[in-house]
Amino acid sequence: MTSHSTQGLAGVVAGRTALSTVGKEGCGLTYRGYSIEDLAAQATFEEVGWLLLRGELPTAQQLTDYRARLQSLRELPAALKAVLEQLPDTAHPMDVLRTSCSALGCLEPESATAGTFDVTDRLLATFPSMLAYWHWFQTQTKRIETHSEEDSIAGHFLHLLHGQRPSELHRQAFDSSLILYAEHEFNASTFTARVVTSTLSDIYSAITGAIGTLRGPLHGGANEAAFDLINRFTTADDAERGVMDLLARKEKIMGFGHRVYRDCDPRSPIIQHWAKRLAEEVGDTRLYPVSERIEAVLRREKKLFPNLDFYSASVFHFLGIPTLYFTPLFVFSRTAGWAAHVLEQRSENRLIRPTADYIGSEPRAFVPITER
Ligand code: COA
Repeated sequence: MTSHSTQGLAGVVAGRTALSTVGKEGCGLTYRGYSIEDLAAQATFEEVGWLLLRGELPTAQQLTDYRARLQSLRELPAALKAVLEQLPDTAHPMDVLRTSCSALGCLEPESATAGTFDVTDRLLATFPSMLAYWHWFQTQTKRIETHSEEDSIAGHFLHLLHGQRPSELHRQAFDSSLILYAEHEFNASTFTARVVTSTLSDIYSAITGAIGTLRGPLHGGANEAAFDLINRFTTADDAERGVMDLLARKEKIMGFGHRVYRDCDPRSPIIQHWAKRLAEEVGDTRLYPVSERIEAVLRREKKLFPNLDFYSASVFHFLGIPTLYFTPLFVFSRTAGWAAHVLEQRSENRLIRPTADYIGSEPRAFVPITER
């Protein structure tokens, strides 16, 4: 019989990976052996994407070429623009990206490309374009060009969204958050991508499924929910009262806790640093102090620590990004990790098909409809 602790596959080793380690010594995160602290401080998102997908850091020339390649792939096919124009302004942006990914899979199927790397590059290059195109069409009925002179995905999206070049501080803050979100072992959306891949399906199907999984508030949707919480309070004292009330009602506080990390989420102090810098830049005296107080209350009352989503919410807000776009930004980044897992799953594939403990009725005689 399944015990409660194995429900949700908690603690179950469901495969092997050379991509990342999560929670070693309670608190660590590495991508291909490099610590998240080193990558966030010294690399760029494109370098990390290359590392995850190809196994080694790129040389300077490889990185220049890779940036140029991604830059050249940002244009959306006319048929995809037509799809985006048909989607209502009430659609959740995660649904927009999920549909767009699936639509691109019809227009440029994997079987018609040179392979998985090509599709991955195309998705990394076009997800920001898809969201920005839909944004401008739905808010201003404006059909934007989806290229810019920015050679980073972070700079490109901020440029498209705000219609002007971002400051270096904003580009760096966003780039750092993309690095932190890029990969996280067998999390729910990555596992989805691996299950889809294990049936020998295509990469668009794997990533479309992963986007659907990421959308929920227990996973990627937590950054959106965390901001709604933080933004409710006017002062730190108000936040303390509000969070104590929520805890008394046994409600979950989004952006706290983790399935694997036991002591801390190593990404949190890195993103918190950016939240603090951006708060100082805009002269914020509300959101950052409120966030710090919520963190203190959760530590004191429940011994819970913030995960990446908690301070990311403020970072994205200070970058002028609408709350509903927070989880889509996670997609821009995690696409690198998802695709690397698709490649890894294919390299030693076996159909993922677990079994279940049956808890239903004992065998019984069928009752014809006339006798029921
Ligand atoms: N707020 C309040 N209590 C929380 C909590 C949170 N964010 N996260 C965990 N807990 C408590 C649970 O209520 C539970 O307490 P109990 O044993 O008294 O019932 C205990 O801690 C274990 O939580 P559980 O939900 O069973 O752990 P899990 O491993 O299944 O869940 C998460 C992990 C991430 C889903 C969970 O921590 C959560 O829902 N967090 C909020 C959503 C979030 O931020 N998701 C992004 C993850 S990166």
